Amino acid sequence: MNNNNIKRYERREFIKILSIAAASCASTCLYACSESTSSPVTLTGKKIEVRLEDNTTLLTVGGSVRKTFSEVNNGRPVLIVRTSETSFRTMTMVCTHQGTTINNPSDNKKVICPNHGAQFSIADGNFGKNIGGQSTADLQTFETTFNPTNNTLTITF
Ligand code: FES
Repeated sequence: MNNNNIKRYERREFIKILSIAAASCASTCLYACSESTSSPVTLTGKKIEVRLEDNTTLLTVGGSVRKTFSEVNNGRPVLIVRTSETSFRTMTMVCTHQGTTINNPSDNKKVICPNHGAQFSIADGNFGKNIGGQSTADLQTFETTFNPTNNTLTITF
């Protein structure tokens, strides 16, 4: 190999290494970006009131309603479930696996992510827990209190 060939060879190796490093950085960024959409939101203490008379599915135990509030949960949906006469729970509908929006419940036991099938419980004692399908973290839940005097929920985000 003469000097020109050696330089050409070194340049080719350098470009190859540079390409591998660039691809590695890009994949790390894509992974990090997808992770951030599925991460729990930072709690701010913002309170939102929900009146039962405006959400009649919550008048029955086991009933639920999907709501989106632009100022909380990154503007992504939450599910409010009436788990007993006096108890209501709220959880994000953003899958902890890759951030896909989860489907509404098809029964009163669970919700399922349409992307890879993660299942999350909506039962009171297990609310938001990953219970099947794709194994991933539990869903973020938000404190929900009920005032029976004015039939209003207060959800704290
Ligand atoms: S994004 Fe929900 S299971 Fe993969």
